[in-house]
Amino acid sequence: MKLFEPFRLKNMELKNRIVLPPMCMYQATQDGFSTLFHICHYATRALGGAGLIIVESTGVTPEGRITDRDLGLWNDSQTDGLKRIVDACRKYGAKIALQINHAGRKSKSAAGPCLAPSALRFSGDCRVPAEMTENDIKRVTAAFVRAAHRADEAGFDALEIHGAHGYLLHEFLSPLTNRRTDSYGGSLRNRVRFLREVLNGVRGSWPDEKPLWLRVSACDYDDRGIDGPMMVRIVDEIRPLVDLVHVSSGGLLPAKVKDYPGYQVSLAEQIRKECGVPTIAVGLITNEEMAEEILQDGRADLVALGRELLRNPYWHVDTAVRNGVPGYVPESYKRAFPKIK
Ligand SMILES: Cc1cc2nc3c(=O)[nH]c(=O)nc-3n(C[C@H](O)[C@H](O)[C@H](O)COP(=O)(O)O)c2cc1C
Repeated sequence: MKLFEPFRLKNMELKNRIVLPPMCMYQATQDGFSTLFHICHYATRALGGAGLIIVESTGVTPEGRITDRDLGLWNDSQTDGLKRIVDACRKYGAKIALQINHAGRKSKSAAGPCLAPSALRFSGDCRVPAEMTENDIKRVTAAFVRAAHRADEAGFDALEIHGAHGYLLHEFLSPLTNRRTDSYGGSLRNRVRFLREVLNGVRGSWPDEKPLWLRVSACDYDDRGIDGPMMVRIVDEIRPLVDLVHVSSGGLLPAKVKDYPGYQVSLAEQIRKECGVPTIAVGLITNEEMAEEILQDGRADLVALGRELLRNPYWHVDTAVRNGVPGYVPESYKRAFPKIK
């Protein structure tokens, strides 16, 4: 089965192609430190056979967290806790990436000002954000760069920049939320400028041999917003700076997206084919037949299962056993699987 075939990206070799996507657990301390929960949660998925684990949205600044219970990496002292998560996951055979983020106008953190490209509120229960000055842009860019350096020190195998779900970088990319009249707004090239600066900066503080990639929302579900063809043009602008694109959608506007099994796969396929970049497909993919079809048909290189891996951290073990794939039952659990040697 293709889903149990290895996948290599730069120095990172995955043992299979089913990924745990980043999912906020809201279990960090108020000041952004990881807790025992994170070690248990992520190490369980590693023991369960996940090829790649992407650790949840981690704030590059205190006010850049989505909530005050998110992980943070704005301080050197936060590195050690993340290193313990990395070590636990690697010990049990998974590779591990970190998602770094600034939540922009969707931040509910009490830590500081709410920032965005333009002073447009997300919804009634969010603050009206302050339009970022060029100094703010420089400060947040530097925060991404320093967080990337710390992520390397913590030992992460790969780094994901969160450019999706209506957070700061996505807000700059979309014409719906970026109404700036300076060099960071207007044309598509200008709207990509902040992202390009962040990626360029991070490239300087993150080792070349480790993969660096971007998560995007390839559709805003609004006629005037981002759609598949526009996202292709955006990815083309930054193509040399990323090794892979993790393709999600939505989150920019409060309206609920109508989802159905595999609803985002065609966007991952379009970006993979038209931009010539490896992709992760995600979104209501819950069974091995669907995952295998996506991989066999070359629609994506990796498939992420989010809520499914929350429900069943042993998804890889179960699927491997059912399909006769050796090597997935942890030694200590073999008595629970009498037919497995
Ligand atoms: C509890 C929860 C927390 C999430 N947190 C994040 C996050 O930190 N970063 C992110 O990019 N996406 C986040 N997401 C979105 C998931 O990564 C994924 O794209 C989404 O759940 C769709 O995949 P699924 O249908 O397989 O669950 C979260 C989703 C859930 C359910």
